[in-house]
Amino acid sequence: MMFASALLLSSVVPVVLGQSAPPSKSTGKLPALGWNTWNAYGCNINEAKVLAAANQFVSLGLKDAGYQYVNIDDCWSNKSGRDPNTHRIVPDATKFPNGIGGLASQIHNLGLKIGIYSDAGTMTCAGYPGSLGNEMLDASTFGEWGIDYLKYDNCNVPANWTDSSSPPGGDWYNSNSALRYRQMGDALAAQSRPIQYEICIWGQANVWTWGARVGHSWRMSGDASPSWSYITSIIKTNVAHLNYTNFWAHNDMDMMEIGNGALTIQEQRTHFAAWAFLKSPILLGTDLSKLNSTQLAIIKNKELLAFHQDPNIGTAATPFKATSTAPTTSPPEYYSGASSKGTHVFIINTGSSTATKTFTLSNVPGLGTSGTFKIHDMWSGTDLSGTYSASSSFSVSVAAHDTVTYLLTKVA
Ligand code: GAL
Repeated sequence: MMFASALLLSSVVPVVLGQSAPPSKSTGKLPALGWNTWNAYGCNINEAKVLAAANQFVSLGLKDAGYQYVNIDDCWSNKSGRDPNTHRIVPDATKFPNGIGGLASQIHNLGLKIGIYSDAGTMTCAGYPGSLGNEMLDASTFGEWGIDYLKYDNCNVPANWTDSSSPPGGDWYNSNSALRYRQMGDALAAQSRPIQYEICIWGQANVWTWGARVGHSWRMSGDASPSWSYITSIIKTNVAHLNYTNFWAHNDMDMMEIGNGALTIQEQRTHFAAWAFLKSPILLGTDLSKLNSTQLAIIKNKELLAFHQDPNIGTAATPFKATSTAPTTSPPEYYSGASSKGTHVFIINTGSSTATKTFTLSNVPGLGTSGTFKIHDMWSGTDLSGTYSASSSFSVSVAAHDTVTYLLTKVA
């Protein structure tokens, strides 16, 4: 009898030692492209707003451009607690009159996917029920509703589940923080539908070292803000950990602020380009009906999206030394990376006035030291006039806080 109940227990209590189930390979190979309620609406969410975003994916051409996930963030459930009988988290019936399952069907009918939010603590950041200790029940509830993506936050963590020092053996995969995320990972792996798993741990517990063993993406920072200082600081942070990004493994620079606050159009271009070439998830975070045509053109740029969603190359662009005398800056201004189309160069002007930016073609990793190249502007989709030899330098005037994006192709 004791043996039987121990067996039963071990089948429902997640394993905390050894290895956890790896994240599903049926989802999350490429960084997510989608939308999330938080930056747009905070807690002031409901079915109409989420459905409006889903319909705008279709009507604005975002779905055709590859945007897929429509994600609900914090504040979707009954704040007073779980159902006393079933113990399940219950959707707020005023905000979501058709439940989350009813909304999921509508979103699926549009050919899109739906994400939900919970927390690896007792309550979410806004004080709604969290999932710590109820991982299997919540994961199976999400699975039944048809959920395709889970963002799992890090608020209200009991003291015995935190880390005050490096874990035994030094592998943060065995830290208390990681174990909380592994428990939910195990519960997600037990569901029949693949659920993409976002570890929202704000860059804590060296998450980049274990994130890919547990989920598909992991937040590298605290919350984004629509400010140039956030954009540059998260680029700096991310650049230090770029070798962890690959297929099924994405450093998450947090949700997009295009359309919010007072970012200049140049800053919004840099925001989008950097998230794309560093292969962060791109989850739009604004009321899509308010975007103007310039902003829409930025987020629908085919060539940057193709780089971000490249099915053959999972690695991000990395900084390179542009000329033999180029100074080192933080964040770096010059990046190169490979795509199925060839070699790309991205240049950010981090300065607050227009500046000339120059690189020597042979300094671009992978381009080689001989031959002649043409340069293609990814923003406009056009080739620049003329050709450039490997030993030559290319110069361009870049507006304050703007980013230029190129594909370089050998022509001879
Ligand atoms: C934060 C998280 C945000 C948002 C918010 C909701 O911890 O980083 O992205 O989810 O909680 O309360």
